[in-house]
Amino acid sequence: MTNFELYNPTNYVFGKGQISKLKELAPANTKILLTYGGGSIFKNGVYEQVKTALAGHEIIEFGGIEPNPRYETLMKAVEIIKEQNIGFILAVGGGSVIDGTKFISAAVKYNGNPIEILQKRILTKDINAVIPFGSILTLPATGSEMNSGGVITINETQEKLAFGGSALFPKFSICDPTVIESLPKRQLQNGVVDAFTHVLEQYLTYPHDALLQDRIAESILQTLVEIGPSVVEEPTNYKLASNFMWCATMALNGLIQKGVPSDWATHMIGHELTALYEIDHARTLAIIGPNLYRVMFDTKKEKLAQYGERVFGITGNSIEDKAEKAIEKTTEFLHKMGMLTRLSENTDQFENTADFIVKRFEERGWLALGEKQNITPEKVRAIVEMSY
Ligand code: NZQ
Ligand code: ZN
Repeated sequence: MTNFELYNPTNYVFGKGQISKLKELAPANTKILLTYGGGSIFKNGVYEQVKTALAGHEIIEFGGIEPNPRYETLMKAVEIIKEQNIGFILAVGGGSVIDGTKFISAAVKYNGNPIEILQKRILTKDINAVIPFGSILTLPATGSEMNSGGVITINETQEKLAFGGSALFPKFSICDPTVIESLPKRQLQNGVVDAFTHVLEQYLTYPHDALLQDRIAESILQTLVEIGPSVVEEPTNYKLASNFMWCATMALNGLIQKGVPSDWATHMIGHELTALYEIDHARTLAIIGPNLYRVMFDTKKEKLAQYGERVFGITGNSIEDKAEKAIEKTTEFLHKMGMLTRLSENTDQFENTADFIVKRFEERGWLALGEKQNITPEKVRAIVEMSY
């Protein structure tokens, strides 16, 4: 196992009816900016619960944070915070609203042009240089409620870029699984697939000595395989909803990545597909993931075989045989979860995608991705072309 530090200061408040705890969690005598997305919170009762719990607080609202949140929109909130002397931000929404809020939090006191936080990937580590924030999660998927990262799109340059730092953990996140009842099926499917892929990015690498990490990762995968297809049909089932929400948080709250190698190339390529074609985040992962495992087969085959055996109960004559079956099973699961796994099924204009992505990665100096740093631009090209 490699050395690690495990730091996670988020107060994670889980369960039915827990939004009322905002009363105790929100800071007193502080003006609050309530951030939200396109308005789902007004239709499903979440907004009312938040307002009731925050009775007596001075609140300013900032809505309109897009799915795949835009830098240009978020900078408007930065101005409001500066003008209005706001001391705390409350994000009410899915990954996009929480990520957007993290960016706002980092940008307000940033010494320079905040676009650098994204384009130069400046880490936000100074707790005194951010506006503290909490979250009310409405969509289990990203793990943003208990991690310190985010992804923001810059409209002007059509770039989707990751950022983060240890000062960007939510102070608290309230996670009430009943909020998923109002989610469209498409978003439920996305949530399961995003969480599933988060585990694979940190698990499907090469054999190592972190035995417990493997078992924790496999248990999250197994649980998602078990409940994923039914939770999208039956989001009012609390047993399914609560396990789904906890799986999604556990998949990306930092725990399973400690002491192990990780990949993340599926995400890096996938972000380009969202930036180019606005394909939902999870759906880009379903397009790229299996083909990345095919192209990087020699690097990943041992772990693919282990995953196949332990998660899907696969048997086979050789490592290669089991690894190939594991990729097939993964694609089968993605299809079951409503994913269209070819780029051409998700967008019409895709012919130059590989050229575009390879050029971008070269410009950014991303010449060696993956757990062994052997995903070169040529490998990226092969993965993307295989995904057409
Ligand atoms: O905007 P509103 O009206 O709230 O509607 C949203 C949005 O249209 C809707 N929704 C959310 N909760 C709902 C609901 N509708 C009905 N009932 C509810 N309870 O769902 C739509 C999608 O929301 P969004 O927040 O965009 O989805 P998700 O949580 O999947 O977040 C995706 C974003 O997170 C980033 C992705 O790249 C993408 O930009 N990620 C963030 C990560 C992180 N911070 O660690 C890691 C991930 O890999 C991912 O990259
Ligand atoms: Zn993701």
